[in-house]
Order: sequence, then C-alpha cells, then structure tokens
Amino acid sequence: MKALFIGYGRMGSALGDAWLRTGLIEQLSIVDPGLAGAPEESRFTRLEEAPEDAFDLIVLAVKPGYASTALAGLSDRQCSQAMVISVAAGVTLATLSQALDERCPVVRAMPNTPVLVGAGCTGLYAGGGLGEVQRERIGQLFAAVGQAYWVEQEGLLDAVTAISGSGPAYYHLFSEALAQAGAKLGLPTELAHQLAAQTAFGAATLQQQAHADFTELRLAVTSPNGTTAAAIEVFEADQKLRALVDAATTAAFNRSVELSAH
Ligand SMILES: NC(=O)c1ccc[n+]([C@@H]2O[C@H](COP(=O)([O-])OP(=O)(O)OC[C@H]3O[C@@H](n4cnc5c(N)ncnc54)[C@H](OP(=O)(O)O)[C@@H]3O)[C@@H](O)[C@H]2O)c1
Repeated sequence: MKALFIGYGRMGSALGDAWLRTGLIEQLSIVDPGLAGAPEESRFTRLEEAPEDAFDLIVLAVKPGYASTALAGLSDRQCSQAMVISVAAGVTLATLSQALDERCPVVRAMPNTPVLVGAGCTGLYAGGGLGEVQRERIGQLFAAVGQAYWVEQEGLLDAVTAISGSGPAYYHLFSEALAQAGAKLGLPTELAHQLAAQTAFGAATLQQQAHADFTELRLAVTSPNGTTAAAIEVFEADQKLRALVDAATTAAFNRSVELSAH
C-alpha cells in the first residue's frame, strides 16, 4: 500500500513505523512541519509539496483543531483511490467527510498509547462507502499494533475513549499509588516501582488468557481472612473504588462528547 501521513508525531509515527516494519505499507510519504527524523525524500513540511500520487491510504494524525484544514488541502488525484483513517480525537465523520468533500471513505480510529509497544487497543468506526476488503485491511493495520475492535455507532467511540483511549493513564495512576504505598511500607523506591509495573504486566497477561473472568481471577488470589482479602475489603467498602471508576469514566465520556460537539 502507498500511504500518506498528515501529521507524524507520537501517534502518527507509532502507526507508520510499525506498518512499514511489518510490510503492511510499502511506500510512505509524510507531511509534518515539525519533523526531523524521517528520510528527506519522503518528508514534506506542507501538503502542497507532497507527491501527486494516488494513495491507497491517507492517515490523518494531527491535533483535532487542524484536522479539517489538513484534509481539505488534498488533491483529487491524491484522494482518487484512498481510504482515509483519522485518529483525531472527537472529530466527527460528518466533519471529516465534509472537509474531504466526500471524495473518499473515512474511518475514525481511537487508538491508545500502548500502540507504541505493539500492545495498543483501537476502537474503529466506519461510515458508509467502505468496502468489506477495505474494512478488513484497516482491521489488519490496527491488529499489527495490538487489538482492534469495530463499533457500529459513532457515539460509542466516546465510550471507547473513556475506557481504552484514556485507560492507560488510569492504570499508570494506580501503579503510581501502588509504588508510593510500597515505598511508604519501607521498600526502596526503585523496587516498589518494579513491583508495581511487573504486577500490572502479570495481571494483564492473566486477564488476556482465553475465557478469563476478572471476578474469578480476583477470587482465586483472595483467600478468606488473608492479606488480599484485607485489602479488597477496603477497596470494596461502600463500593468506593467502583463508584470512583464509574464517576471518572463518566467524566471522560462527557468530555469526549463535549469535544466532539465543537
Ligand atoms: N497520543 C495518543 O495517545 C492518542 C490517542 C488517540 C488519538 N490521538 C490523536 O492523534 C492525533 C495526534 O496526536 P499526537 O499525540 O500524535 O500529537 P503530536 O505528537 O503533537 O503529533 C501531531 C503532529 O502533527 C504535526 N502537524 C501539525 N499541524 C500539521 C499540519 N497542518 N499538517 C501536517 N502535520 C501537522 C505536528 O507538528 P508540530 O508539532 O510542529 O505542530 C506534530 O508533529 C490527535 O488528533 C490525537 O487526538 C492520540
């Protein structure tokens, strides 16, 4: 596939580098004014300088505020056989299609930062006009950087944002708190950090096993009257942790809806 990336920052480069490495795209052109690392022959500071090629894939990975103007600058030839993937958070399909003057099918993707290490989680939504083969190709692209899941209503991307888009930060916060608690209990800071990180990794690995059930996994390590039970009792008192997670994800969801409305 011949791809054009508009924006090659943190997210754009994580996707583009992985897709080149895995051979999912053969040719890459990049438009990004702030880019230093990419090979000069494929890097352009402005869209007007990019090749007049018929791209198979155009990836929009600029900050949401620049999304419409960036797309509107594409030529008819550049769009002629392309599918467009936008990772710009909160920019609706209607806005993207309008900016493109409906010249090509658009998919919205909501990836998260673990795509940087091939362990991402991406929610995908396509409007009309995307063929079955194109849908499969897009699924493969995001499967190359983790797991990909299609949603069938655009509004569900706000929920995906609240759970997996913002989710890595929630786990990092929990690890921060766990490491701090470990240090308070007398562990060297670095060791407390390692214990928190390795425990998160181990728990996530168990959760990824086929047919894993979160409640069963928790109960399996919670002997009556044991140490884990003592801690879980505190987390579960008045459903405190669950209420906090519910309130926090609702706040993220509402913010995502609010941003999409602008
Ligand atoms: N990072 C995440 O976890 C994540 C998750 C889901 C979705 N996203 C979405 O991904 C998009 C990019 O986020 P990011 O974290 O990768 O941001 P980023 O690191 O700031 O990357 C954006 C890049 O686009 C460049 N740029 C700005 N205006 C441009 C234009 N008109 N044409 C071409 N390139 C332009 C920027 O250059 P300058 O720095 O010089 O302005 C920058 O290099 C955002 O819309 C965000 O909502 C990110």
